[in-house]
Amino acid sequence: MNYAKSYFGGLVLSLFTFSASAESVLITGANAGIGLEFAKQYAARGYTVIATHRRSSTPDSLVALETAYPDRVTVERIDVRDLEMIESVAEKYRGQPIDILINNAAIVADLTNPTPQIFGTLDFPLFDVFMETNVRGPLKLSESFYDSVKASRLKRIIMISSLSGSLSEPPTRLSGRVYYKTTKAALNMAMITIARAAKDDGVLVTSLHPGGVKVEKLANFNVPGFMEPSESVLGMMDVIDNLTSEQSGLFLDWKGRVQQW
Ligand SMILES: NC(=O)c1ccc[n+]([C@@H]2O[C@H](COP(=O)([O-])OP(=O)(O)OC[C@H]3O[C@@H](n4cnc5c(N)ncnc54)[C@H](OP(=O)(O)O)[C@@H]3O)[C@@H](O)[C@H]2O)c1
Repeated sequence: MNYAKSYFGGLVLSLFTFSASAESVLITGANAGIGLEFAKQYAARGYTVIATHRRSSTPDSLVALETAYPDRVTVERIDVRDLEMIESVAEKYRGQPIDILINNAAIVADLTNPTPQIFGTLDFPLFDVFMETNVRGPLKLSESFYDSVKASRLKRIIMISSLSGSLSEPPTRLSGRVYYKTTKAALNMAMITIARAAKDDGVLVTSLHPGGVKVEKLANFNVPGFMEPSESVLGMMDVIDNLTSEQSGLFLDWKGRVQQW
């Protein structure tokens, strides 16, 4: 009787310890593209994954992931433009450690219609949508989930940025996409500011350029040299694993190479 009690007690304790010690990651825009690949790869690795999306009902991609990993994947709705929605999900997780926050969600461009982002034909109301999604959203998530990240073991905030936001990158391709480029440059500055503020807490904050990645929405476009999502994401996960305090505040690519601002 005593043996059984201590055996089952030990089992329960070790199960509790296992689930309590599994690393956790929250990903925005986890229903498609690079965000979905992060969610899949971290779940396969045994992480507790909080996969977030903005749709009014759970996207099929995340239903499938939740079904494949019911013990470790939780789906939450976060529209990163919605400050109250961010706050209410953060409140739900208050007191729970989150090891890695990946601010991945962003809008890029309407690939069939570049006009609204070309100087001379700019659609100004659209600028606000870009700023709210690509800059204010990641800033708000970083602030709202900060205590959860700070309370974790790994303590990492990752901004998925782009070399398109690099001030020294020659505009070799389209001369357009002014909103996308501007918001990624602004995101990098927000990242630096957060990294400085977070230094004393041991929270590491970094921007990552994923490289050119052949996500689903690019399926019908000819994008030579673009890689599969798994290659980019496995590279970025390796960079995130090995992040050092010296790299906090830097802009790195999926192989950990320093990018020019
Ligand atoms: N693919 C590349 O070659 C490349 C290169 C450099 C940088 N990046 C960066 O990588 C990240 C992911 O891009 P991707 O290529 O995977 O793009 P994607 O396939 O278009 O995925 C973007 C994700 O962001 C979500 N999203 C957009 N607005 C949102 C909002 N207001 N709230 C919550 N989620 C929102 C989308 O949700 P919906 O499905 O509902 O629209 C989608 O899940 C972005 O930050 C992008 O700038 C990508």
